[in-house]
Amino acid sequence: MIKKKLVFSGVQPTGNLHLGNYLGALKNFVSLQKEMECIYCVVDLHAITTFQKPNDLQNNVLETVASFISTGLDPNKSIIFNQSSVPGHTELAWILNCVSRIGWLNRMTQFKDKAGSDKEKASVGLYVYPNLMAADILLYKSTHVPVGADQKQHLELSRDIAQKFNNDFNCKDFFPIPEPLIPKKVSRIMSLRDGTKKMSKSEESDLSRINLKDNADEIIKKIKKAKSDSEPIPENLSDLEKKPEALNLINIYAEMTRKNLEEVLNEVAGKEYSFLKTNLSEVLISEIVPIGKEIKKLLDDKAHLMQILKKGKEKANIIAEENLKNIREKVGLI
Ligand code: TRP
Repeated sequence: MIKKKLVFSGVQPTGNLHLGNYLGALKNFVSLQKEMECIYCVVDLHAITTFQKPNDLQNNVLETVASFISTGLDPNKSIIFNQSSVPGHTELAWILNCVSRIGWLNRMTQFKDKAGSDKEKASVGLYVYPNLMAADILLYKSTHVPVGADQKQHLELSRDIAQKFNNDFNCKDFFPIPEPLIPKKVSRIMSLRDGTKKMSKSEESDLSRINLKDNADEIIKKIKKAKSDSEPIPENLSDLEKKPEALNLINIYAEMTRKNLEEVLNEVAGKEYSFLKTNLSEVLISEIVPIGKEIKKLLDDKAHLMQILKKGKEKANIIAEENLKNIREKVGLI
């Protein structure tokens, strides 16, 4: 039997998406949309596993949708919606809470990182977060899941849960075992201030990241101030790899120009970083500034964004309800 391919991914509603989100996730979403049926979900229920101010949460959901659309996702092709608007996510999450094992969750490194030193004070939601993620994926019987490398362990848990459900309820192949799509080529985009840390919204200095809403002057300033190296750009990769900030700048340039690292290194070896930085600012400005303008424009028309979510929710809900009917039946719920 040929199974239909279905892509599902979830994105946390953080306002202010940055270049790391763009190169690491959104761009990949857009290219997948050309090949397969895709569902992209803004995971507001995952967000509230740590406290969110209600107003901020709402704005961040809308801003994430605006960023989706501005980078090229098409709501007529892909299903775009927010997780809490389709009740099937929480219903299936409960069922999967009963399939998943405490021992499995205890191994999740993201919980350990996020809960910090006082685990007693973490929310129960944060602990079962990976079960909800499994529910997101399995609710649609998704086959492919584009995620960053940091979500690999959660995806493996989803696979274990799918397998155990299929075994426990004697329904081989009921849930497809979802395949991770982890972009190998996209090297991680790091902070402009510290090449060993991921570019992140939570880093205090705004100089550490290029935001999708940055204007040309901000981009020029941030790239100018980005850490590089006092020596000229090295000739070969192994020397470059010893200099994380320099490597990061060259990586970003390679990603933006769709070239591989070696090609870029051939172009710029022996030159000063100021040369690379001028070119990098130029390519960033021509690709990122129009996206930022579009995000701002969309955010001025909230009704339009709400309409996109409503349409997405309706489409998602049809698939979810259809699958849930079968899931309830397998479990023996009347
Ligand atoms: N946990 C993911 C992250 O933080 C977001 C997410 C939630 C997700 N549900 C998902 C990703 C389902 C892929 C599939 O990035």
